[in-house]
Amino acid sequence: MTDAAPVVTIDGPSGSGKGTISRAVAQRAGWHLLDSGALYRLVAHAGIRQGLDPGDIEGHARLASRMHVVFGVGPDGSEQVMLDGQGVTQAIRTETAGQGASRVAAWPAVRTALLQRQRAFARPPGLVADGRDMGTVVFPGARLKIYLTASPGERALRRYKQLNDKGSGVSLSALSREITERDARDSTRAVAPLIPAPDAEVIDSTGLSIEEVVGRVLELGARRSLWPPRA
Ligand code: DC
Repeated sequence: MTDAAPVVTIDGPSGSGKGTISRAVAQRAGWHLLDSGALYRLVAHAGIRQGLDPGDIEGHARLASRMHVVFGVGPDGSEQVMLDGQGVTQAIRTETAGQGASRVAAWPAVRTALLQRQRAFARPPGLVADGRDMGTVVFPGARLKIYLTASPGERALRRYKQLNDKGSGVSLSALSREITERDARDSTRAVAPLIPAPDAEVIDSTGLSIEEVVGRVLELGARRSLWPPRA
């Protein structure tokens, strides 16, 4: 287990705001960021691009070990993702890619293939790791573990706004159904299911602003001396 740098894990279901909160906390702390969901999305995307059979577990696990991934930041501060030299930032953000990711993520061989790749993100001065099993499996020794959740209705609405801001014409009712399906699959799979780590701080973000949630995480980190208290 890489213990070279302090790690803060932020786990939770789709639409809980993990991505936004993790990015903001990493930025404020000046730490690195791991968007682990993007790795599962990339495996599913690479599988489709290479014409793999959707049920080919070994083929997907091989892609998970070999794919060349670069995470960058665009001029507007947004995440940019390159897969084997090609820009795939938008392609991996669709709900279809999310469903594909959730499917390949249920396979232990794929999860194992991604383990070291994820742990390698823990570099000084520290890492904020966003996902489903960051605190339970990938970084069990994390200094601070957050489990972020929100009511299913609010999560569907947030994803709806996020996707429609990017020009996707998805309907709210279809999205609610897909989110419920994905939650069920992510929470009931045999390996690394979505559950709060026993030592996680649970934050229900229903009705809270982004700033309020970021403030709580920063305060919890400051109490553990991960960064200085805010003025
Ligand atoms: O966070 P996200 O929506 O980008 O994640 C896409 C899928 O990947 C999610 O439905 C389950 C899977 N995933 C996972 O199994 N483990 C993680 N650490 C992150 C994501």
